Amino acid sequence: MSRMNKNIVCIGAGYIGGPTMAVVAKMNPDRKVVVVDINAERIKAWNSKGYDLPIYEPGLVDVVKEVRGRNLFFSTDIRKAVKECDIVFVGVNTPTKMFGRGAGRASDLQYWEATAREIKEWATGDKIVVEKSTLPVRTAAAMDAILNDHAKYGFTVLSNPEFLAEGTAIKDLLEPDRVLIGGPSTKAGAAAVAEIVSIYRGKGGRWVPAEKVLTTNVWSAELTKLAANAMLAQRVSSVNALAGLCEATGADIDEVARVIGADRRIGPKFLKAGPGFGGSCFKKDVLNLVYLCESFGLHTAAEYWSQVIKMNDHQQERIVSRLFKEMFNTLANKKIAVFGFAFKADTGDTRETPAGTVVRLLDEEHVRISITDPKAIPNAKKDLADLQGIEYQTDPYKAAKGADAVLLMTDWKDYPGLDWAKIFKSMRKPALVFDTRNCLDAAALRKLGFKVLNIGK
Ligand SMILES: NC(=O)c1ccc[n+]([C@@H]2O[C@H](COP(=O)([O-])OP(=O)(O)OC[C@H]3O[C@@H](n4cnc5c(N)ncnc54)[C@H](O)[C@@H]3O)[C@@H](O)[C@H]2O)c1
Repeated sequence: MSRMNKNIVCIGAGYIGGPTMAVVAKMNPDRKVVVVDINAERIKAWNSKGYDLPIYEPGLVDVVKEVRGRNLFFSTDIRKAVKECDIVFVGVNTPTKMFGRGAGRASDLQYWEATAREIKEWATGDKIVVEKSTLPVRTAAAMDAILNDHAKYGFTVLSNPEFLAEGTAIKDLLEPDRVLIGGPSTKAGAAAVAEIVSIYRGKGGRWVPAEKVLTTNVWSAELTKLAANAMLAQRVSSVNALAGLCEATGADIDEVARVIGADRRIGPKFLKAGPGFGGSCFKKDVLNLVYLCESFGLHTAAEYWSQVIKMNDHQQERIVSRLFKEMFNTLANKKIAVFGFAFKADTGDTRETPAGTVVRLLDEEHVRISITDPKAIPNAKKDLADLQGIEYQTDPYKAAKGADAVLLMTDWKDYPGLDWAKIFKSMRKPALVFDTRNCLDAAALRKLGFKVLNIGK
């Protein structure tokens, strides 16, 4: 392998590429980091003078202010960046494939393969190519074959899946539970892994402690990311399956989950009943795992993981069924104010948001829908552009005015502190609140005169 430089390019300036590279640049002031994308609008937003960044993450603006122009750069010139940087992270999107073989389950790898071919075309020396996107097992082998077939230079492909959660991305990046780097057991593989480990250790070893940087073979790394997301999604579906039973029996899911979570073998996190998981990753990654199991003839395992998705879809249908029942079996022309559209608090991301599914089901019932959210209104408008007559309000009081029900879908931290007496007064009676996140004070709301529904109680 020829001598390489320490510069980093990341292809893909999305929810993963942007925040990850901002923190990589912060912790490695001696490395130049360039984030590139084919989406010129996104790059323009990353470069905007007023820091009007394309995604919202708590703490992100401060990191970008510190490093942009110092050693972090955003650009659309992919060719130049690939030429100048010998370490290439690839964080492009890998959505579920919607056509042909594996439609609805497999990963669509066209963006990834296109990127690999671009790297090969524009390289002027050896490169370390790092998979940051979540990819099916053995993608690295395919990429290795494409990159190294009749190539002028040597390419070493590593897998470094990202475990950050949206909404806490900067904190997760600064203090990760673990960093995972998978590499081939060749001499070049070991050298490439050591280089990526040194990035995560940070300048002077000030970033991730050595014991938290885990190295494996490439396939283990690829599978671990899918498996970790599947296990998290499975916890959500398990607790939501129990929530329905709690509603039927008079048990309280929050009490049940608290006691289950006190068992150290289980732990308290990700045991919150709610409207089901959303976000760009869980559904896609579980479907991908299902497809992998099927491809290897493991049909019972495939069926097992499919149930995680089925349970999640069912949870959203159940929300609408309960509203229907509680609102006298007719929703037509009633007004429902949807509080929160983002798939979780502290993000503007609405990909696969449960609120989207619920709004579409309500729309089928001819509900008059008013949506409020502090960060996600622009994305909600795009997602629901095909629906007529949806009202969008940044002010929750305006959204609730004249409504028959408030349907809380995202646990934004401002919602419990709203003036609920004022909201009650402005609504049509009987006034219902369906708190699908169990984050409001139900007893206080009942005192004000609301009828209150929760998940799992
Ligand atoms: N969002 C998360 O929380 C999260 C967490 C862990 C892993 N991941 C994984 O990271 C990957 C990226 O996810 P994301 O949420 O950042 O997606 P995203 O859609 O926000 O960003 C991907 C970006 O890649 C760009 N792109 C696509 N093809 C390109 C090409 N050929 N050249 C240059 N740019 C190109 C797109 O324009 C887009 O801006 C996915 O595989 C996802 O599963 C995401």
